[in-house]
Amino acid sequence: MQDKKILCPSILNLPIMHIAEEVTKLDKTDMDIFHVDIMDGTFVPNFGMSVRELQMIREITDAGNKKLIDCHMMVMNPHRYIQMIAEAGADIIYIHPESELIPSATLELIQRHGKKTGLILNPSTSLEMVKDMLPITDYVMIMAVNPGFAGRSFMPYTRQKFVDLHTYRSEYNLSYHLVLDGGATKEVISDLYHNCGVEGFVLGKQELFFQEDDYETCINRIRLY
Ligand code: DX5
Ligand code: ZN
Repeated sequence: MQDKKILCPSILNLPIMHIAEEVTKLDKTDMDIFHVDIMDGTFVPNFGMSVRELQMIREITDAGNKKLIDCHMMVMNPHRYIQMIAEAGADIIYIHPESELIPSATLELIQRHGKKTGLILNPSTSLEMVKDMLPITDYVMIMAVNPGFAGRSFMPYTRQKFVDLHTYRSEYNLSYHLVLDGGATKEVISDLYHNCGVEGFVLGKQELFFQEDDYETCINRIRLY
């Protein structure tokens, strides 16, 4: 039987004025993990959220339904911030392998803080580059858009990487979760879930935000894709 989908609303899509109230609404639905994009303006040409937003989301969900929070670290040398991010309340910390000279040491640091480890592969990052670290990785997120901005479209050439990471996982009997970040439409979610072994989906404007239906209806609908 296939794993249940892991649904991860991308908070970057929310207008900053309404983050608290919208997160409170999302927390009441059957979503799984709040996805928080942290950017330094150097690793990607944009600024995203920071520790304060992370702390706020932590407070809201701790008082509510105790959802998980992941941090997508689009920063250079993220090892400098792991303690800060862990203390602010992230449950899963994703790093890009290119952002560190020794990414495996950063994954180990994340583990020492008692958090789940995540690796994020850009469209140009190969399986070969990360395969030695997969045994110590809990979540592998594959970007189907170039990182740094919400609202971009799924790039079809990235599909093969989902297939490869799924095949590699079974071949080597590994247990990481596979997650999509970027361009999650109905068609993409359905294809990756049913055909490519992907269980996690970062959700943006295409299926979750600024829809006619409320969050609960959207989340329940995505579960059926
Ligand atoms: C982009 C971010 C994403 C973004 C996903 O760099 O990492 O989390 O929100 O894309 P959308 O929202 O367009 O699906
Ligand atoms: Zn992201």
